Amino acid sequence: MTDYSPARLRLGVNIDHVATIRNARGGDHPDPVKAALLAVEAGADGITAHLREDRRHIRDEDIASLMAALTVPLNLEMAATSEMLEIALRHKPHAACIVPEKREERTTEGGLDAARAFDVLAPMVKALGDAGVRVSLFIEPDVAQIDAAIRLGAPVVEFHTGSYAHLAGQARADELRRISDAAALAARNGIEPHAGHGLTFDNVGPVAAIPQIRELNIGHFLVGEAIFTGLADAIQTMRAHMDAAR
Ligand code: PXP
Repeated sequence: MTDYSPARLRLGVNIDHVATIRNARGGDHPDPVKAALLAVEAGADGITAHLREDRRHIRDEDIASLMAALTVPLNLEMAATSEMLEIALRHKPHAACIVPEKREERTTEGGLDAARAFDVLAPMVKALGDAGVRVSLFIEPDVAQIDAAIRLGAPVVEFHTGSYAHLAGQARADELRRISDAAALAARNGIEPHAGHGLTFDNVGPVAAIPQIRELNIGHFLVGEAIFTGLADAIQTMRAHMDAAR
C-alpha cells in the first residue's frame, strides 16, 4: 500500500533499462513487467516508465501490460506531443511526467523549458488533469521554471538532478542548494516536489534529506547494480540509503 504520509519519501523505480536489455535481442526477455512486479515486492512505491517517441526501450504494449499488472502507481514519462498525450489519455496512468525529448540524446538531458513551452503545455496539463492523471513537469531547479509550473497549474514538479549527480565538490554543493531552494519554493506554492536522474547509492543521501521532496525516481543505476546484487537487493539498499538520510 502506498504511504502518502508527509514524512515518507517514496521511491519510484524506473524500469526502462530492463526493456533496453530486452530490445537488444528483439525478444521478450527480460520482461520489464516482471521486473516491475519484483521492484514492488522489494519496496518500490511506484513504477516509472518512459515511452519514448522512438520506442528504444519501453513499447506501447508494455504500458498496457504495466497498467494491467500493477497495484502501485504508474508514472508515465512522456514528451509533450499529441501522440503521447493521446496514449496517456487512453491508459490514464496515476501520473504523467512531461519530459523534454530529443531523438539524438542517449537519455533525458536537462529539464523541460516549461516557461518557453507554456502554450504547448497548457492544454496538455489541463487535459491530463481533467482525466484524473497527476501531471508532473520535469524541470531544472530554477525559479522561472517553477513560476511556469505554478501558472500551468501542475500539481507536481520533478527536479532534474543530473547536474548535481555529475558535479563534484563546491559545484555539487551549490547545485544541491539550488535543488533544496527550489523544493522549498515549489512546496510553498502548493506544488509537490520530486527529484530524479543520475541518482546512486553514493549521491542519493543529500537529495533524500531535502524535507519537501516527496518522491525520487531512479532507474539506470538500479538496473546496472542489479547485475551484481540482484534487483531486489539494489532497491532495498537504495531504500536504506534514502531512509538513513531522511
Ligand atoms: N526522472 C526522469 C524524469 C527521467 O527522465 C529519468 C530518466 O529516464 C529518471 C528520473 C531516472 O533517471 P536515472 O535512470 O538516471 O536514474
